[in-house]
Amino acid sequence: MHVLVIGGAGYIGSHVVKNLLKNNFQVSVFDNLSTGKKINFFDKADYIIGDILNKEELDAAMARNVDAVILLAAKKAVGESMETPELYAQNNICGTVNVLNSMCKHNVKKLVFSSSAAVYGSPVYLPVDEKHPLNPISFYGFTKYDMEKYFEWYDQLKGIKFVSLRYFNAVGYDENGDVRGLEDNPQNLLPIVMEAANGTRSGLKIFGNDYDTRDGTCIRDYIHVSDLATAHTKALSYLNTSSESQILNLGTATGITVLEMIKKTEELTGKKISYEFAPRRAGDPAVITASAQKARDILGWKATHSDLNNIILSTWNVYKE
Ligand code: UFG
Repeated sequence: MHVLVIGGAGYIGSHVVKNLLKNNFQVSVFDNLSTGKKINFFDKADYIIGDILNKEELDAAMARNVDAVILLAAKKAVGESMETPELYAQNNICGTVNVLNSMCKHNVKKLVFSSSAAVYGSPVYLPVDEKHPLNPISFYGFTKYDMEKYFEWYDQLKGIKFVSLRYFNAVGYDENGDVRGLEDNPQNLLPIVMEAANGTRSGLKIFGNDYDTRDGTCIRDYIHVSDLATAHTKALSYLNTSSESQILNLGTATGITVLEMIKKTEELTGKKISYEFAPRRAGDPAVITASAQKARDILGWKATHSDLNNIILSTWNVYKE
């Protein structure tokens, strides 16, 4: 099976590519290297440098006898999406529509998509399952919500079958050290904590310590990228044998606070991490954790790499250098 992995040189994408290659898929990666890195390239995959906003480049890639698409390319910072929504509309919405239309043109009928827990907004019950109401409170979350609606229509009208994977908080690095690309100017908590631990930055701000949680800081469900990667491979296998599209949460149902993440990182790395409390960040729910029972039932997937020690140590293994 030949898979076109769009955004396959990025942080999550390169872990997905590694897993696909391990499972003997033929992999072509399409990436504009805006955040993706050549250091994340694997010898056994083909790389096409191109942009989903450029329809000719996309069509040329899609014309290479592609059987399925994994679409990861997107802007992904919640805070930034509230300040610069136009970037998110362009990349996440227009870019994804271009991919769908190119799939139609080239008769590609299988899609695995990087969706997000951000589609739920502030949970009304926990852990959040896929039946939970969708009420995104960030523009980023809205773009993912909106695309899932498009997929439902393209399924009905054009027969594109999809698995939309709603990631909770992606963290960690390949345990064998096969993915080593660091994100430039990271916006997510753990890489920022790591940069504070290795001295790249002097410290970090904790956005809000007055939430109704056990220590006042936000609770998230952190899921190891290697677990996310496995789910993509399983989703492709699912699409080979089933004609029903699916929307699935990927998480652990375990919640960790911002302060707990910092303290555990200090303990495991032996480094002191400076932080100060700052005002809440727009678009942040206090708590969100996932029920991934449906992914277990449909794909036979569950997280096996996502304990906190492994998350932190696999990330530190890359950041300590
Ligand atoms: N945080 C800080 N300081 C920082 C960075 C983050 O206190 O410098 C806090 C945030 O306020 C939040 C928590 O750390 O409470 C996690 O923040 P991230 O930015 O790492 O992650 P988010 O929860 O905002 O978003 C991530 C992904 C989204 C996904 C979401 C689902 O980036 O794609 O998890 O929970 F939708």
